[in-house]
Amino acid sequence: MIGIIGAMTVEIEGLKAKMSEKTEKSVAGMTFVNGKLWGKDVVLTVCGEGKVNAAMCAQTMILLYSPRMIINTGVAGGLAEGLEITDAVIATAVVEHDMDMSPLGHPIGYVCGVDAIEMPCDEKIIPILSECASACGVNHKLGVVATGDQFISSDEKKRWLIDTFDAYACEMEGGAIGHVCTRNNVPFGILRTISDGGDDSAKMSFPEFAALAAENSIKIMTMFLQKI
Ligand code: ADE
Repeated sequence: MIGIIGAMTVEIEGLKAKMSEKTEKSVAGMTFVNGKLWGKDVVLTVCGEGKVNAAMCAQTMILLYSPRMIINTGVAGGLAEGLEITDAVIATAVVEHDMDMSPLGHPIGYVCGVDAIEMPCDEKIIPILSECASACGVNHKLGVVATGDQFISSDEKKRWLIDTFDAYACEMEGGAIGHVCTRNNVPFGILRTISDGGDDSAKMSFPEFAALAAENSIKIMTMFLQKI
C-alpha cells in the first residue's frame, strides 16, 4: 500500500479521478480513499492545511493501512534561486521551521522526539521522484523543505528560512508528515511544485497559480506510481 497525502483537494483530485475499486473511510473529518491506481494499492487523503491536520492524517493512515511509504504531494512557496512557478522541489529532508525551544537551549527547529532538526526523506524515493520530474519535463531541484503553521508571504521571512535552514521551499504539512513517518519508521517522500515565491507577492501569486502548479505534481505522481 502506498499512502498519498495532499493538503488541498486540487492537489489530490487528479489522482482520485483515475482510481478504481474505491472504498472510503472517514476519520475525524478526513476521508481516506483506498483503491487501485495503475495496478498499485493506494490510499489517498486530503488532510487540510497545517501541521496538526497533516500529522493526524499521517498517523491515522499508518494505523489503518500500514502503508509501505507515504508521499506528500502539493504546492509550495519557492525559496531557492532559479525556481519558477510550476517548477518542482523534491525534498531531501524536511524541517519544522516554527519549532523554537531556543530559550531552553535547543537550536531553532529542534524537533522533540526525533531529537534532530532535519528529518531525512527516503533515499530510494528521492531519485525516483527526480527521474519522474525530468521525464515529465518539469524543472526541479532537490533540497530542504521548511514546514510551519504560516503562509510565508514576506521577503524578510523568506530570507530567514533560507539563511537558517538552507530551505528550498516552504509549505505547511511536509515536516509534520515527515515527523510522524520518522517516529513510525515509515519511508516518506515530499514532492512540491511552486505556486509562489514565499515573498511579498506570494499572497497574490498563490491563488492565481496553485491549480496550475498542482497539475505538474499530479503529472509527476502519475509517473511515480507507474514506476514504483
Ligand atoms: N504553500 C504554497 N505557498 C506557500 C507559502 N508561501 N507558504 C506556506 N505554504 C505555502
